[in-house]
Amino acid sequence: MNRNPIKTAVVGATGYTGLEIVKLLLNHRGAELVSLTAKVDETIAIDRVFPRLMGRLEMECSNLDVDDVCGKADLVFLALPHTVSMLFAPRFLAAGKKVIDLSADYRFPSPVEFEKWYGAPHRDPEGVEGAVYGLPELFRKEIADARLLANPGCYPTATILACYPALRAGLAGPEGIVVDAKTGVTGAGRKASLPLLFPEVNENFKAYSLAGHKHTPEMEGVLSRAVGRDVRLEFAPHLLPVNRGILSTIYLKLEKEVSEEEVYDLYREQYGREPFVRVYPPGQLPELKDAVGTNNCLLGFKVNPRTGNLIVVSAIDNLLKGAAGQAVQNMNIMESLPETEGLI
Ligand SMILES: NC(=O)c1ccc[n+]([C@@H]2O[C@H](COP(=O)([O-])OP(=O)(O)OC[C@H]3O[C@@H](n4cnc5c(N)ncnc54)[C@H](OP(=O)(O)O)[C@@H]3O)[C@@H](O)[C@H]2O)c1
Repeated sequence: MNRNPIKTAVVGATGYTGLEIVKLLLNHRGAELVSLTAKVDETIAIDRVFPRLMGRLEMECSNLDVDDVCGKADLVFLALPHTVSMLFAPRFLAAGKKVIDLSADYRFPSPVEFEKWYGAPHRDPEGVEGAVYGLPELFRKEIADARLLANPGCYPTATILACYPALRAGLAGPEGIVVDAKTGVTGAGRKASLPLLFPEVNENFKAYSLAGHKHTPEMEGVLSRAVGRDVRLEFAPHLLPVNRGILSTIYLKLEKEVSEEEVYDLYREQYGREPFVRVYPPGQLPELKDAVGTNNCLLGFKVNPRTGNLIVVSAIDNLLKGAAGQAVQNMNIMESLPETEGLI
């Protein structure tokens, strides 16, 4: 690459998405890791936190000091819990740094919407105004100019990509959509939590947060704005006893009769040139294991003429296309680097 590498910092480097960003940046020819921070009592070698990095990365992870990070980096990944990112993003932006935030803090167009669903006051309403929602397949142009990028949620990425072509074309109606989604346990982050202990999750399968999951307004809001109609969906998340991956089965009401070849053509027309969306031909459906470890969103579908449903199956790796992979994809777009750099 004929330019100096982008100096990047990962804040939240001891978490699951932080680790994935670090691993991706180690194989990235246009970016250099210059700072790793988290909430730690004392500075610690990152390969002590994640021994899998032994021999690959000799860097320390220290407690976050914004001025120190600003002195080293040009672009900052915030892999922080929601309500924490908004405390730090304005300071990085004020110092002229680009910010890619993996939390939900900047995903809503209004702070009121955030406060309603996340039950906490928004501390950076100004930042919300300038933030760009980072789903490249829909908003690539806006992403290229972003200084504060709101990386989408994992469930929303899988759902929005699955629904958008059918809704945009008026093939399916914007109401009565059912999203039956399953995620692996890393979706909840690395913090200790009783319901996420191995014996609680292993050999188990359960629904949670029915009729009120925080990702619902993100999916509805982005789809509504993208297709210009009010989209309403029933979102039913489930916890799978696997480490990573999301598979969502989505039921959309068809507004007209359609063949599977026509649906295939529509989705191929939308995503045929996308480097990280794979549309399966009729008769073949995505499986979780084919998405895990990749930055791809896999889409397959079935038309059921008996019920009038279009059933779309969408699979991603929650930590890659659902988080760190998409964040690096967004960095590539923001920095005019090849979009696939470091990702395949
Ligand atoms: N996991 C997923 O599949 C996924 C997908 C999409 C989006 N996201 C979003 O991405 C963000 C990170 O998720 P995650 O799963 O990586 O979470 P995580 O595993 O819990 O990691 C959170 C990181 O933030 C650090 N941190 C917390 N408070 C801090 C503070 N005040 N100052 C500095 N560092 C602080 C933690 O440090 P310590 O460990 O030292 O406390 C840890 O490194 C979240 O907002 C999440 O909703 C996650």
